[in-house]
Amino acid sequence: MVIHTAFCELLGVEHPIVLGGMAGGHTSAPLAAAVSEAGGLGGMGITGLSAGQVRESIAAIRAATDKPFLVNFLLFLTAEDAFAAALEEAPPVLSFAWPRRDQELGPYFERAHQAGAKVMFMAGEVDEVQRGAEAGADVIVAQGTEGGGHVGWMASLPLLPMVVDAVNPLPVLAAGGIADGRGLAAALALGAQGVLLGTRFLATEESPLHGNFKAAILESDGHDTLLSEIPDLASGLVWPGGMARARRNVFIERWAGREWELRAQQARAARELAEAREAGDADNATLYTGQDAGLINDLPPAGEVVRRMVEEAAQLLESGLPSLVRRQ
Ligand SMILES: Cc1cc2nc3c(=O)[nH]c(=O)nc-3n(C[C@H](O)[C@H](O)[C@H](O)COP(=O)(O)O)c2cc1C
Repeated sequence: MVIHTAFCELLGVEHPIVLGGMAGGHTSAPLAAAVSEAGGLGGMGITGLSAGQVRESIAAIRAATDKPFLVNFLLFLTAEDAFAAALEEAPPVLSFAWPRRDQELGPYFERAHQAGAKVMFMAGEVDEVQRGAEAGADVIVAQGTEGGGHVGWMASLPLLPMVVDAVNPLPVLAAGGIADGRGLAAALALGAQGVLLGTRFLATEESPLHGNFKAAILESDGHDTLLSEIPDLASGLVWPGGMARARRNVFIERWAGREWELRAQQARAARELAEAREAGDADNATLYTGQDAGLINDLPPAGEVVRRMVEEAAQLLESGLPSLVRRQ
């Protein structure tokens, strides 16, 4: 069973399901390769890696799969030497998100195209995706506020069709809050050509996340996330116009409403966060998770996630939804 869209055609993949390139050790070559091998588009976040690590990461994905994959850059943090190294390796797809408002996108996209890569651009506002489309992106990702990590304010349900209309005829992927075949079918109904997932793939066998963090995703009912500046204030990284959705754990509760104090204690907070992360302390580390954590109850292989989503969405599109339509 396959669900074939213009996105699949453009990128040469079997299924319109993408693993978002999540930086900071949230994705890895084995996870990216597992998604690509299952017919989706695997991805790896390489922001913050050195030029040498970028080369090694792309080589590691290539060693594990000969299918298409993406590597992702957070534009406001992109170092020239790491970007140049990625271009030399010529990955099939380069995906970008979070530019500074005054950062020119055209030069990045042109260099990616010259290297033979397709360009994906993700944002959570209509103005921002239009900026990406005008700069020459091949695929636009509309990211709703339900998602894990850094997100904007708009929810997927209204945002997605607005973005589809705004960048028509470019293919659009839906991101944020999608974890199963129902989400895929809904996104297709709203005009998307596929979906991009973060949180769902964090809770898989191949995910590089600490076991305690995976367990926290399974435990979450999805109602326990908070969109705040707290993770960024603690890490000392000023994000261009976004906030972060993370699990409302002990760390978040400690600082919520006391951001002024967190600013004063930033160095200590950053140290404690790093220690908690290293120790797999799910109460005191930042756990970037989307509201869709409430839909995630197991730790399957990543390829199984792709297969299940396709099966479930295909059933809905083929018989479940058409059976509702009556001609009277
Ligand atoms: C832990 C984590 C790290 C992320 N890092 C990045 C990143 O480096 N670059 C990026 O474009 N998006 C990043 N994202 C956002 C994802 O690409 C995607 O938009 C989001 O996870 C979709 O929502 P979902 O988590 O509900 O699937 C990250 C998301 C998470 C959960």
